[in-house]
Amino acid sequence: MRIQSIHIQGFRNLITQTVELSDGINLLVGDNGQGKTNLLEALHVLATLRSFRASNLRDLIHHEAKEAELLGEVFADEIPLKMRLRIDGKGRQLWLGDKAVRSVAEYLGSLSVVAFTPDDLSMIKGAPALRRRFIDRAAFLFRPSHLQAVRDFSTSLKARNRLLQEDRAGKDPALLASFSELLAEAGSKVSATRAWLIEMLSPRIGEILSFLSDGHIRAQLRFQAGWKHDSSFSKESLAEALDQGLERDRRRGTTGTGPQGDDLDVILNQASARRYASQGQQRAVAVALMLAVVDSAVSSGAEQPVILLDDVSSELDALRRERLFERVRAFGGQVLITATEAKLVEPVYEKAAQVLTVHEGRIEQASGGL
Ligand SMILES: Nc1ncnc2c1ncn2[C@@H]1O[C@H](COP(=O)(O)OP(=O)(O)O)[C@@H](O)[C@H]1O
Ligand SMILES: [Mg+2]
Repeated sequence: MRIQSIHIQGFRNLITQTVELSDGINLLVGDNGQGKTNLLEALHVLATLRSFRASNLRDLIHHEAKEAELLGEVFADEIPLKMRLRIDGKGRQLWLGDKAVRSVAEYLGSLSVVAFTPDDLSMIKGAPALRRRFIDRAAFLFRPSHLQAVRDFSTSLKARNRLLQEDRAGKDPALLASFSELLAEAGSKVSATRAWLIEMLSPRIGEILSFLSDGHIRAQLRFQAGWKHDSSFSKESLAEALDQGLERDRRRGTTGTGPQGDDLDVILNQASARRYASQGQQRAVAVALMLAVVDSAVSSGAEQPVILLDDVSSELDALRRERLFERVRAFGGQVLITATEAKLVEPVYEKAAQVLTVHEGRIEQASGGL
């Protein structure tokens, strides 16, 4: 998988321009607030129709523009494909080649990316929502239908919570039951996929962590479901859990059981990383999770994802930075790495296919030394 170029118009602070990307490592260097993350965000949105930092696509439109447009020329299995996305006040439109695409499912999966940002670096001890977000983005690489399940689940959870709040006395049990049914249907799929992903990643974590930290570490991932489930995470078992919590939910005006409480822990030498790991170890664990995702994607025979690493180098010590870059380079695919200073990406600077500078929304090939 390779992005040859992206044409950008009306997106965040980026000027209208076409950015050519190289195969291999692309370094993006620029001061804070210049537009480095915005470029990675544009690529992520083009691939997944979701931002890794905004919940509403409208926020991505330049303050002074009415619409944003992204046009990517990508290669999947050496077959060229044009992907085009337009976002305006009303919604979004998609094209593959010259053909307008109605179904999101048809569009998704054309381009796979793995993004890793400073938020992800702090996910181990951060809010559980950060860990769920990471899991869901990764799961989407392997099962694109996961995105729809997450959306359906969120919609039904919101609807159910609204009803619980408005109607504590339980005047409309039939409506509540229908929301519970929808929630059980989508929610059971969400947790099942999350559990499946974590089980798949778990055996790789120890090896990657040892590599990142120069020592033998026994590590395992553990999925903690937010509801009492049976072995297959069946819809019926979620429906039952919802049913059992109904009185409590009515009293509290919110749904207390379900995938909204799912979580992930990493067990390092038998201790919970969430509780006991130092900050450095937590960051290493987060990086290891990302590398495990890429590893699994590659070995599952899927197209090599494009890796987007936003500003991670400044928060890792020299050894881990070097190892991370070594590993990422060994994948051999296309990588974009942002940094505020060239010295932070020194281990790959010489090996980069190209260095781009980012200044006030303009992205240019670096001329000579930085
Ligand atoms: N919708 C928008 N329209 C115009 N500018 C925006 C918009 N959203 C963010 N920005 C600007 O983009 C800049 C941040 O870009 P970013 O890519 O996060 O910088 P960095 O290079 O530090 O990663 C800020 O100056 C911010 O004001
Ligand atoms: Mg940034």
